[in-house]
Amino acid sequence: MIKAISFALSGVVALLVAAGPATAGDAANGESIYKKRCKACHAIAPGKNRVGPSLFGVLDRQAGTVPKFKYSKSYIEAGEAGLTWDEEKIIEYLANPKKYMRKVTGNKKAKSKMVFKLKKEAERQDVTAYIVTIN
Ligand code: HEC
Repeated sequence: MIKAISFALSGVVALLVAAGPATAGDAANGESIYKKRCKACHAIAPGKNRVGPSLFGVLDRQAGTVPKFKYSKSYIEAGEAGLTWDEEKIIEYLANPKKYMRKVTGNKKAKSKMVFKLKKEAERQDVTAYIVTIN
């Protein structure tokens, strides 16, 4: 009986989690986070690469495919293996790019030239909500 109840509860929790993040971000706040934390390395204009690739059109784009940008091998491999960016993936990725690339490639030695981490989940959601609006 207790088992049945806790099973039912965990189902509810799973549903809440699944319905959660992606749409929760505040794009206006995200724009100011972008200007402070991302802009130095990422342009949003198409074809303009800085230390990082242009983020123009990043949504639904295969990882590691901006022309003329020299990616780490792990990004190209992850993209070829099917990684395309969506809101949920970007939110997870920003917490720790290297760890994320290790997870998606299954390679414990995978590298990332993006050393920056955005630790606060609310900030990751907001900045991602903003990125979606410029796509
Ligand atoms: C210090 C520079 C730097 C900062 C700050 C930075 N990035 Fe990056 N970013 C990079 C680099 C370099 C890469 C490519 C990594 C590689 O090839 O190893 C990258 C890759 C990415 C990618 C994958 C792009 C693709 O085409 O596959 C996304 C998405 C991204 N960054 C988003 C962000 C966001 C959003 C922020 C701000 C919260 C941010 N980055 C802050 C340097 C940075």
